[in-house]
Amino acid sequence: MEKILVTGGTGYIGSHTAVELIESGYDVIIADNLSNSNIEVLDGIQQITGTRPGFEQIDLCYRELVFKLFEKYAGIKAIIHFAAYKAVGESVEKPLDYYHNNLASLINLLYAMQKFNQPGLVFSSSCTVYGQPDILPVTESAPIKQALSPYGNTKQISEEIIADTIAAIKNLKAISLRYFNPVGAHKSGLIGELPLGVPLNLVPFVTQTVAGIRDKLKVFGNDYNTPDGSAVRDYINVTDLAKAHVVAVQRLLNNKNKTRYEVFNLGTGNGVSVLEIIGAFEKATGEKVPYEIVGRRAGDIEKVWADTSFANKELGWKAATSLEETLASAWKWETYIRSKMKNKA
Ligand code: UD1
Repeated sequence: MEKILVTGGTGYIGSHTAVELIESGYDVIIADNLSNSNIEVLDGIQQITGTRPGFEQIDLCYRELVFKLFEKYAGIKAIIHFAAYKAVGESVEKPLDYYHNNLASLINLLYAMQKFNQPGLVFSSSCTVYGQPDILPVTESAPIKQALSPYGNTKQISEEIIADTIAAIKNLKAISLRYFNPVGAHKSGLIGELPLGVPLNLVPFVTQTVAGIRDKLKVFGNDYNTPDGSAVRDYINVTDLAKAHVVAVQRLLNNKNKTRYEVFNLGTGNGVSVLEIIGAFEKATGEKVPYEIVGRRAGDIEKVWADTSFANKELGWKAATSLEETLASAWKWETYIRSKMKNKA
């Protein structure tokens, strides 16, 4: 079985990707410092797949530890690098934490890839690199806009670090995947997104509101230049997204990549407004979402959705799950995790 290192593998997208990798026959080793995730995620992965992935609790900012990891798990065939801080607002408050954590970990992995002659990296990037695009849907060749936050900047700089390193070191190759808005949970409801504290992202806020943990969802703005006035995003099912990582790994392992550094948008290609998310959630679950319209959130863009034709054609991958099914899965996960927490208390 080919060994794949998944950094940040107990996190939201990482855990779903670990499941898809295991189900595709890979030997998954997760490296995570558990700074924003829970060790019990491994139980969820095991319950779904019947296999417990390898796990190392490590902080990738320490190069010696990264090297030790590669020594211990000799023969890692590819790395998927999710481990990073991701809260936009927090990054404005703590820029150095973001630059240090997100960049040092990537640099250390790239050093390890050279040292241990391990050539393939899949990097977790974001549509945040496009800012508010001038043309929609946005393609991979759209200009990179000045980042609006240190978080967004770490994604831009990371992509540049990867491109420069690949250019200089001839046997390395990498794929950056620019995610749009990942939502939902595994269809089993056994793993999902578990924000610590008050959720900042839309769907976890919706599910926690319906669960009675939050009073009301605040809809940030209804005066955008969009059909219903609320902001528009491209919400992609997290398992669909996870599957694209398996395809990306296979592409690297089978030398199917056309250039040594490739970049793909991962979205559905459809723009959906905040109010449409509320409507779709209500339809999918039969639950009412209490909400109020408030002012715009600072730093939010008006609308963005992906041109996915490059990923569809080159990766042979397409988002397949409907929005309603995706939102129903988010709700299934929320009810599961709440009852689990209650039983523990
Ligand atoms: C944000 C980040 C993005 C990051 C992504 C993943 C910004 C500008 N972008 O995306 O870089 O990659 O998270 O963490 O912060 N909304 C509400 N009420 C809420 C929460 C959200 O109306 O309580 C709205 C937002 O205004 C937005 C949409 O829902 O229009 C989606 O918001 P969110 O889930 O936070 O994602 P983004 O802001 O698109």
